[in-house]
Amino acid sequence: SNSKKLLVLPGDGVGPEVVHEVRRVIDWMNRRGLASFEVEEGLVGGAAIDAEGTPCSDDTVARARAADAVLFGSVGGPKWDGLPFEQRPELGILRLRQELGLFANLRPATVLAPLASASSLKAEIVSGLDIMIVRETTGGIYFGEPRGVETMADGKRRGIDTEVYTEDEIARVARVGFELARSRNNRLTSIDKANVMQSGRLWRAVVGEVGKAEFPDVELSNMYADNCAMQLASNPRQFDVILAGNLFGDVLSDLAAALTGSLGMLPSATLGAPDASGKRHALYEPIHGSAPDIAGKGVANPCAQMLSFAMLLRWSFGMEGDARRIETAVNNVLSGGLRTADIMSPGTARVGTSVMGDAILRELEKLAA
Ligand code: NAD
Ligand code: IPM
Ligand code: MN
Repeated sequence: SNSKKLLVLPGDGVGPEVVHEVRRVIDWMNRRGLASFEVEEGLVGGAAIDAEGTPCSDDTVARARAADAVLFGSVGGPKWDGLPFEQRPELGILRLRQELGLFANLRPATVLAPLASASSLKAEIVSGLDIMIVRETTGGIYFGEPRGVETMADGKRRGIDTEVYTEDEIARVARVGFELARSRNNRLTSIDKANVMQSGRLWRAVVGEVGKAEFPDVELSNMYADNCAMQLASNPRQFDVILAGNLFGDVLSDLAAALTGSLGMLPSATLGAPDASGKRHALYEPIHGSAPDIAGKGVANPCAQMLSFAMLLRWSFGMEGDARRIETAVNNVLSGGLRTADIMSPGTARVGTSVMGDAILRELEKLAA
């Protein structure tokens, strides 16, 4: 059939609040005959711990595998911060990435014209900014062994994490970065600490080999992660596609988010490798977390979640027109002067999550007419 199966995992904190606004858009698309989505909801993170005793059950993994795409909210919160490491809500997203082989996390950081003045940087430095960060998400120090906290002979403890990357892991995510660069401005900046890390040396070598053999037309440069942080904060428009491992990509993408005005604006797509039939697992989530400081107040910015859904339409279903319509609707609502608290600037009107959602829906209806 033509119907597309979505698994929606709202999670914790502001997750359910912002996912709710996207559900309204999904229902609208179904009603309007623009798509035929079959939506299932599931539990993940703290919500799943409370109900099922685990942050991501086998059943949730199986349902994610069976779905055509997963829309994920956010997980975590103070309620579960005291739990032992192996039981934390954050393991919910880590397990999904790992079990579904979601190794390439695409994190666009674009400054929408109406938000140029919401950035922590001067408008003239960020206006028109359009960066794509490709972050590796199934390897590196997030999963490397050995890891743990152990007691040494002298009775003192030590904490251990291990950064490991195989050349195949590096090459496959590098290919995603190079391909994206080709579809954009043809420049890839690969991030590492090749000056101090063995895995970083291999990272730089393998990205270079892949570039030379398969993407000689793409302009490749290498940059140390610390310098990249400085360059992002001072001259961010020099970048087109940034390729980074799991940890550097995590940190640099939050930094890039600040440039665009707010974490509440930035979506992401996490893609697996296509299987023999061409199907690829994919999960879409904002890059922000559960925002415990504002959860339950109805003030969270739903744009990052909404734009994650636009990425879902584009990357999982090739629905470019529908994806664009959502992006345009968000942009138009912001141009009209509505703002959630995180992106307020002088002369704009502060609204909550659901009023923002209402306005996006109204705009979608106009654009579809
Ligand atoms: P966070 O992203 O939740 O919040 C950081 C800041 O950004 C907060 O001030 C918050 O209010 C603000 N913010 C985030 N999303 C917003 C939105 N949609 N609208 C307006 N403001 C928004 O990061 P944190 O505080 O470091 O982490 C909180 C919890 O979330 C932790 O348990 C963490 O592990 C978890 N987390 C989960 C994910 C995920 O599910 N993918 C990502 C990051 C953090
Ligand atoms: C993110 C988050 C996650 C990560 C946490 C919640 C495991 O910060 O998606 O950026 O570090 O990958
Ligand atoms: Mn993060």
